[in-house]
Amino acid sequence: MRIIRTRDYEDMSRKAANLISAVMTMKPDCVLGLATGSSPVGTYRNLIRRYENGDLDFSQVTTVNLDEYKGLDGENPQSYRYFMRENLFSHVNIDPARTFLPDGTEEDSEKACGAYDEILRRTGPADLQLLGIGHDGHIGFNEPADTFAKMTHCVDLAEMTIEANARFFSSREEVPTQAYTMGIQTIMSAAKVLMIVSGADKAEIIRKAFFGPVTPQVPASILQFHPDFVLIADEAALSEIGKISVGV
Ligand code: GLP
Repeated sequence: MRIIRTRDYEDMSRKAANLISAVMTMKPDCVLGLATGSSPVGTYRNLIRRYENGDLDFSQVTTVNLDEYKGLDGENPQSYRYFMRENLFSHVNIDPARTFLPDGTEEDSEKACGAYDEILRRTGPADLQLLGIGHDGHIGFNEPADTFAKMTHCVDLAEMTIEANARFFSSREEVPTQAYTMGIQTIMSAAKVLMIVSGADKAEIIRKAFFGPVTPQVPASILQFHPDFVLIADEAALSEIGKISVGV
């Protein structure tokens, strides 16, 4: 595990974009595992800027997203499909047919998850998986549990997650209670995993996840076992681990 300490959110976003750009430059037809939430917005903004400057080409890139709310279609502004279109896809030369997310409109969970696993099998492991982290240590929507769920599955969202995500909806009641998420085995099979974290409110979970025991009660802790895991976090997010972290 490598930790890159940054000054703030902007610095984090630029450094994350550097790393993603490097992967895309070395492998133009790479598979990128992408994430939603406020953490990656700045990273996507930086990638768009580089595309506009002529430094990045998305024409051969395939993307697979971590998760999607069950019950929301891509036209719903709260859906992750919509988020990805707004924050990245519609601004770069990516082929929309090569951008994948679980199908939130499929009500049959088994069908939705099986279909997404089939897509993931076809694309193969991601060359880089981008992740944020929830306050309870969730990655994608893999919530604290008794075991690590391997493949795509339907989850009941934790109260804490519903609370945290309510800020994107007009009321808490509108937040879906279930989501489809990529499983831990799929996330762990990515060649490189990049987590971006910003803000003091994430400091405690960062300490627990990466300086505590590996446990499905803190899903992100499994990343301690990933052979190429990079954490890019700002000073506020690293404030609980003091001098333990190493810069690069
Ligand atoms: C959501 C997403 C996660 C994301 C998390 C943290 O629950 N499913 O993939 O990491 O929120 O979001 P934020 O970056 O907004 O703190």
